[in-house]
Amino acid sequence: MTDREKQLLEEAEQARRNHEGSVGADPYRQQFHVGPPVGLINDPNGWIQWRGVYHLFYQWNPFATTHGAKFWGHVSSTDLVTWKEEPVALAPSEWYEKNGCYSGSALDVNGDLTLIYTGNVKDDQGNRSSYQCTAVSKDGITFMKQGPAIDTLPDGYTAHFRDPKVWEEAGVYYLVIGAQTEDEEGCALLYRSDDFRTWEFVGPVAGSNLDPLGDFGYMWECPDLFQLNGTDILIVSPQGLEPDGIHYLNTYQAGWFKGELDRKTGRFNPGAFHELDRGFEFYAPQTTEDEYGRRIMVGWMGVPEQAEDRHPTISHHWIHCLTLPRELRMQDGLLIQKPVKELEKLRAGKGVEHKEVTRSIAPFELEGIRGRTLEIEVRNLQIPGEGYFSMMIHGEGRLTVSHEDGCLVTFERTEIGGVNRERRYGRPRSVETLRVFIDHSSVEVFVNGGEMVFTSRLFPDILNDSITFEGDWHENPDIEAWSLKTPSG
Ligand code: FRU
Repeated sequence: MTDREKQLLEEAEQARRNHEGSVGADPYRQQFHVGPPVGLINDPNGWIQWRGVYHLFYQWNPFATTHGAKFWGHVSSTDLVTWKEEPVALAPSEWYEKNGCYSGSALDVNGDLTLIYTGNVKDDQGNRSSYQCTAVSKDGITFMKQGPAIDTLPDGYTAHFRDPKVWEEAGVYYLVIGAQTEDEEGCALLYRSDDFRTWEFVGPVAGSNLDPLGDFGYMWECPDLFQLNGTDILIVSPQGLEPDGIHYLNTYQAGWFKGELDRKTGRFNPGAFHELDRGFEFYAPQTTEDEYGRRIMVGWMGVPEQAEDRHPTISHHWIHCLTLPRELRMQDGLLIQKPVKELEKLRAGKGVEHKEVTRSIAPFELEGIRGRTLEIEVRNLQIPGEGYFSMMIHGEGRLTVSHEDGCLVTFERTEIGGVNRERRYGRPRSVETLRVFIDHSSVEVFVNGGEMVFTSRLFPDILNDSITFEGDWHENPDIEAWSLKTPSG
């Protein structure tokens, strides 16, 4: 370990110690989501199940609640519910990463847990260089840096070249990486390697103004490419899409394309782009396949430059969190995101169930359904054309199912740090079930078992732990809720 690395790790530990009391005392601090020990968390990184243990790393600035020279924080789990804090995996100590160990991924390479990430470097004039670096671990806990494996840019691309996501196929390693052409078109590029050290540029996978796409943003971050039920899926977080009706309302988006990867040319031939999430905070997700063959995704519950300076948790020296792990499946052309089964372990006991809840357009509470950490399931919803169903969370976040030119789901809250109400929308074919996870200052809503998801932060009056329902519906739905407990090993 270099002196610089030792010093940075000590400073990070000091920052954690200085503020752990304040972070822990924040009533908005979540109970079962991964958050930063102190400072800012953004993208999930290096997401993998390795030797039976799930390892989840994350972009971390320990020193402030703003972005900066990122570290890789590290948590591990054997059940996807209880997360153990591990020693910091990477600190931005070396010349090739001095302005941040940026996002990347993990793979078992010859028995070692191997990371590949972007070393971000800026000179005195603010000019950027990007190096794709590797680090290896024998025990999954301490990492030996190996320095840059890709230290040149392919011709025609800028230094906005980052976030390698790696996989192995028939003895060949591949990675996709986020990039920008010299004409400022966002894209993803494919590389291949036989030994994980020497990487060869294959070609562009997909991108803005690259057939068949038209204008599609000036930068693509955090690409991920994998097979799901025999279909190739490309996930990217494009920057620079303009709002379009109910779509692309956040500052930046995260979504998926269906296509077919040509391993020789790199071309993917994407179909339509679908946003992965319809809530306010979701970006830069990463997936991995676990030992049971499940494709599990975790996202960042935040969006770059979107009210990041106005979160109330800043006064407690922390900001943002990651989403719950979600299992992905393709079903009838839809990408389904289902909270992993293990999350049922969070249920504190038997659910409180209300059968056939009678409609009322005056808001009402249901006995036993309140609290700051809850799972709520609404089943057998049937909303007629002129009817609606609405659920108000902690007097602040309102989820509504109604009909306006077809089925419409709306999630509404007060702007973070503001007074106006703001909305996000989704248009499923219909809504039969809702499953909602509430954790102090976040809400994740899974419509119809995960066919559509709304992920958002919520900062209600901390004394309000009520859940109220109202609406006008046909068949009376069943509503069941569980209080959720703090995970413990
Ligand atoms: C996405 C991102 C990545 C980058 C990282 C830096 O949120 O901007 O492109 O690697 O965050 O923290």
